[in-house]
Amino acid sequence: MVNVAILGFGTVGSGVADVLTMNRDLIRQRAGKEVALKYILDVREFPDSPYKDCFVKDFSVIENDPEVDVVVETIGGATVALDFTRRALAAGKSVVSSNKELVATHGYELLQLAAEKGVSYLFEASVGGGIPVLRPLTNCLAGNELSEVRGILNGTTNYILTRMIRAGLSFDQALKEAQDNGYAERDPSADIEGHDACRKICILAALAFGRHVYPQWVPTQGITAITLADVDYANSCGYKIKLLGRALKMDDDKVCAYVAPHLVSGENPLSGVEDVFNAIAATGNAVGDVMFYGRGAGKLPTASAVVGDVVDIAKDVTAPKRNQWAAGDEAMIQSPDCLSFRWYVRANGTMDAARSAVGDITPLARSGAPASEIAFLTESMTQAQLNSKLAGMEVLSSIRVLG
Ligand code: HSE
Repeated sequence: MVNVAILGFGTVGSGVADVLTMNRDLIRQRAGKEVALKYILDVREFPDSPYKDCFVKDFSVIENDPEVDVVVETIGGATVALDFTRRALAAGKSVVSSNKELVATHGYELLQLAAEKGVSYLFEASVGGGIPVLRPLTNCLAGNELSEVRGILNGTTNYILTRMIRAGLSFDQALKEAQDNGYAERDPSADIEGHDACRKICILAALAFGRHVYPQWVPTQGITAITLADVDYANSCGYKIKLLGRALKMDDDKVCAYVAPHLVSGENPLSGVEDVFNAIAATGNAVGDVMFYGRGAGKLPTASAVVGDVVDIAKDVTAPKRNQWAAGDEAMIQSPDCLSFRWYVRANGTMDAARSAVGDITPLARSGAPASEIAFLTESMTQAQLNSKLAGMEVLSSIRVLG
């Protein structure tokens, strides 16, 4: 028998309890033993919960119970969750986490601690919700040198962009729907300003390229400046606006990582990823391009990934399974300013003035545009080159284009 304690009975934590319960027989067969829910830690009262006998308020009950083998951390954040994760690992318990902030900021330290204690620290649910991606990336693609990992990493922003495009909802209406569905972070600014996607690309970069990449090293732009006008212009030329995280291996083993909205070509499979779905694409020198796709947020999809890790550990708690990467070093980070893109630009002015400033451009049109508004696609150039060409223009928005 393997005993599990869940820390935090929010959307994901309650989903983990439900999946452990509804699939109990299958989980027993797959783990080769009973996987029992022993404790749930939460400061709130849940008198009507079917798990009401499991609730405790004091973490030391879990920490000091030698029968607890696996601690599932679904608290979120990097304060209390960090303290409890350290203490659980130090007490010789394996930890399974859905907490991308904690892994992105303290993953190296926690992996070291797990290794010292001979236990597992697994976090499949921290990237891509229910999508199996971290284990395939590190195990199934272990024979490859990976050159890039990129993807739609935030369900809330993808849901908002899709609802704006498909249903003509305002940004606020679409965000409210995402919150009602349990997709958004407690503070949704982490979603819409790109920080959640940033944490996830940091985890993917660390696994793909072998060294910790901290969120503060990753230039991050969210979707708050995207307007329906931009969405319309993108549609007019066969593109979809998507918030992408990208991490690329550069010369001298440097890593270039960033998060930003992109116009993604209709021919790129990422453009067809809609609603709460996420997709992560990787490029390896043996496999070529692969893509992982599924629900990137939500109670049961995320719980599915957490429980997968629990079962993996439960099969043999004496044989730790863990991800590994080396310490981070800011000297290995290269700015995305070195990358060239075609750019989408919306501005006030004339197409003639834009041509003389920027050179070859592809004009775009949308119905209902103000007379002063123009939009166009540029040829390929870096951000600095674009900025210098646009210096004399009244630019309303500029977004990278991905073929
Ligand atoms: N708020 C996150 C998202 C939850 O929308 O993707 C899953 O990490």
